[in-house]
Amino acid sequence: MDLLSLLTLATVFLSASAFNATILNETLAKHGVLAVYPKDSTYQNVTQAFNRRFKFSPVAVAFPTNVTQVSDAVSAGAAQNLTVVARSGGHSYIANGLGGKDDALVVDLSKLKAISVHNDTALIETGNRLGDVALYLNASGRAMPHGTCSYVGIGGHSAYGGYGFTSRMWGLALDTVQSATVVLANGIVANASADVNPDLYWAIRGASPSFGIVTSIEVNTFPAPSSAIVFKYHWDDMNITTASRAVESFQTYARAVDSLSHGSELVFKKGAEKGKVKFGWTGAVYGNLQPFDTIVGPYLNTLPPPNNKTITNGSYIESVEVLSDTPLNTSMGADIYDTFYAKSLMTPESAPMSNDTIKDFVSYVANEGFESKTDWFVQVELYGGKNSTINAIPSNWTAFAKRDTLFTIQFYASSEAHDPPYPMEGFTFMDGMVNSILKKQPKDWKYGTYLDYIDDALCNATNWELYYGSNYGQLRSLKTKLDPNNTFSFPCGVPQDSSRSVMAGTTKDLWFFNVIQSTYQRLLDRINFQSFMYV
Ligand SMILES: Cc1cc2nc3c(=O)[nH]c(=O)nc-3n(C[C@H](O)[C@H](O)[C@H](O)COP(=O)(O)OP(=O)(O)OC[C@H]3O[C@@H](n4cnc5c(N)ncnc54)[C@H](O)[C@@H]3O)c2cc1C
Ligand SMILES: *[C@@H]1O[C@H](CO)[C@@H](O)[C@H](O)[C@H]1NC(C)=O
Ligand SMILES: *[C@@H]1O[C@H](CO)[C@@H](O)[C@H](O)[C@H]1NC(C)=O
Ligand SMILES: *[C@@H]1O[C@H](CO)[C@@H](O)[C@H](O)[C@H]1NC(C)=O
Ligand SMILES: *[C@@H]1O[C@H](CO)[C@@H](O)[C@H](O)[C@H]1NC(C)=O
Ligand SMILES: *[C@@H]1O[C@H](CO)[C@@H](O)[C@H](O)[C@H]1NC(C)=O
Ligand SMILES: *[C@@H]1O[C@H](CO)[C@@H](O)[C@H](O)[C@H]1NC(C)=O
Ligand SMILES: *[C@@H]1O[C@H](CO)[C@@H](O)[C@H](O)[C@H]1NC(C)=O
Ligand SMILES: *[C@@H]1O[C@H](CO)[C@@H](O)[C@H](O)[C@H]1NC(C)=O
Ligand SMILES: *[C@@H]1O[C@H](CO)[C@@H](O)[C@H](O)[C@H]1NC(C)=O
Ligand SMILES: *[C@@H]1O[C@H](CO)[C@@H](O)[C@H](O)[C@H]1NC(C)=O
Ligand SMILES: *[C@@H]1O[C@H](CO)[C@@H](O)[C@H](O)[C@H]1NC(C)=O
Ligand SMILES: *[C@@H]1O[C@H](CO)[C@@H](O)[C@H](O)[C@H]1NC(C)=O
Repeated sequence: MDLLSLLTLATVFLSASAFNATILNETLAKHGVLAVYPKDSTYQNVTQAFNRRFKFSPVAVAFPTNVTQVSDAVSAGAAQNLTVVARSGGHSYIANGLGGKDDALVVDLSKLKAISVHNDTALIETGNRLGDVALYLNASGRAMPHGTCSYVGIGGHSAYGGYGFTSRMWGLALDTVQSATVVLANGIVANASADVNPDLYWAIRGASPSFGIVTSIEVNTFPAPSSAIVFKYHWDDMNITTASRAVESFQTYARAVDSLSHGSELVFKKGAEKGKVKFGWTGAVYGNLQPFDTIVGPYLNTLPPPNNKTITNGSYIESVEVLSDTPLNTSMGADIYDTFYAKSLMTPESAPMSNDTIKDFVSYVANEGFESKTDWFVQVELYGGKNSTINAIPSNWTAFAKRDTLFTIQFYASSEAHDPPYPMEGFTFMDGMVNSILKKQPKDWKYGTYLDYIDDALCNATNWELYYGSNYGQLRSLKTKLDPNNTFSFPCGVPQDSSRSVMAGTTKDLWFFNVIQSTYQRLLDRINFQSFMYV
């Protein structure tokens, strides 16, 4: 290597590692952005992850109070080549709201809490939590689809999906987003909608953390249903034959039952003895479109009588409350935490699990599940079936590609005391559970995984398509364009276009690079940067 190359290398190396905390501190201070730094007494508290299996040390946690300050913070971080991440509710399963690694600049959105309801839309700043959103919309007789835990942030939730029992009726939370305000890596405050920056609008509905910080979303709302019935059926000790049959017939039932008013999931927990499981069916029926019994009856008839049940008939907001383990008004109590490892499988409706697969899976949870010391559960969430709104949307209309999902299965195991350390056994137990399904299914089975249940074991190149599906290529192209310095980078994030890494390759690779580059240029031409509008 000649001297010049060495010097160039050294310069690149030095400049890339030249983070200067004083400059970051001064820049944020100049813009009035409050931030907590490692030496500050509150640093430990504000850097706690929801999942205590993870502990990361960001260079700072900034608390902007408005969109301009979010932009100032992103620019300050980007200028220092820092990884910048948004934190909305902080409930990422792998602490990506802290960067998913050390030394990120965290932009905490908890001070951006404005909400306003308009006729059939609402403007929601992303520092809001799901419970507060539900209460606020309900006060105007409105509602939107979202998950059950009231402390989850609307920012992360709507970034990747947002499933609840109203989703077959109304879609995922991200499907309601009509427009958004997004701070890009270069600090520009962009609008995104079908008319303005449509590529960005496409990307933020399924992959926003890789593209910018969404500071507010304008969502479609729905009239809150006139009433709702929450049902929880429970079977104490089901054997493998009965529990397998229960999953098989759920697949059949899902295809027959009306989607417009019903959402539900199956729940598995540890049985009282080996070879048994605790089994549950939990869900809700909205409005009075059809008598309750005609909806739940066809499935219950396929099962032995439950050991107990709770049926709560009330208002829509009462149903949201009954389904949440925590108060809806999140200022009423301290946030929760856990220590866990979770995984997911999205099963295609066009290629459901075979009965053999189901039997292997149920045998695993009934046998290995009894041996495990973890506190675990499995939820089989119904996404698809007849007339499901989630699947009525074409897979390339939003970045969320999984529009042929029958079930999203969540596998979740906490440490025994829900505190660290997390036992090694918990990893092998969970991995084995997922494999009990994969090993019997065809090798080319087109299953997926759910980004809101993000799994650190799947954050490597071989697995990216599980998360982003058929939209992966388009997302990578947009990533290269909209975040050229990879400012928003974290485990399982969208990587840049492969043309980048080809640059250092052979002549043959260069030819390939040129082809990609010219295709890519055409794509760039479609994105008119002049159209980014300042708010
Ligand atoms: C107890 C519990 C129950 C749950 N129940 C459900 C459920 O019923 N249905 C369901 O679908 N999911 C559910 N989830 C999963 C939940 O949707 C995800 O964990 C979600 O990503 C958390 O969002 P957050 O804002 O709280 O997390 P954060 O950690 O703040 O963010 C998660 C990710 O999104 C990014 N992000 C956050 N805000 C923004 C923003 N404004 N702009 C761009 N990127 C952003 C972060 O950088 C991070 O990568 C549940 C999770 C928990 C812990
Ligand atoms: C960081 O920047 C400050 C202000 O520009 C400067 O005084 C200081 O020397 C820098 N520190 C390092 C380690 O480069
Ligand atoms: C940054 O500045 C604040 C005051 O704004 C100070 O309290 C803090 O200690 C500083 N941190 C660092 C790392 O310089
Ligand atoms: C810890 O931080 C959270 C916000 O991140 C805040 O609500 C809480 O009051 C803090 N607790 C303490 C003891 O400072
Ligand atoms: C943003 O907040 C800061 C600090 O409160 C304030 O000085 C600034 O004027 C605000 N900017 C806008 C555009 O509201
Ligand atoms: C950031 O990275 C760019 C390109 O790699 C480099 O030119 C610049 O000097 C770096 N800046 C800092 C502050 O490290
Ligand atoms: C909202 O509805 C009212 C009354 O129906 C109407 O006058 C008004 O124009 C509507 N506003 C918007 C923004 O559509
Ligand atoms: C499983 O349970 C069902 C219903 O309780 C019962 O009829 C059946 O005999 C049991 N099967 C085995 C193998 O125990
Ligand atoms: C699978 O199980 C269901 C319900 O138990 C049954 O109706 C169906 O015939 C079975 N399928 C096959 C291929 O055996
Ligand atoms: C049914 O009883 C079990 C304990 O036997 C309990 O854990 C469960 O919460 C109850 N379920 C319902 C729906 O009441
Ligand atoms: C529901 O799907 C069936 C076909 O499975 C179709 O005939 C019917 O029109 C759909 N209903 C609605 C309300 O979309
Ligand atoms: C989605 O795919 C269809 C068929 O391939 C195509 O006609 C349409 O333009 C695509 N839509 C988007 C938004 O890319
Ligand atoms: C990527 O993840 C898979 C598990 O899906 C694992 O088998 C493989 O070893 C991982 N590769 C790397 C490089 O970590």
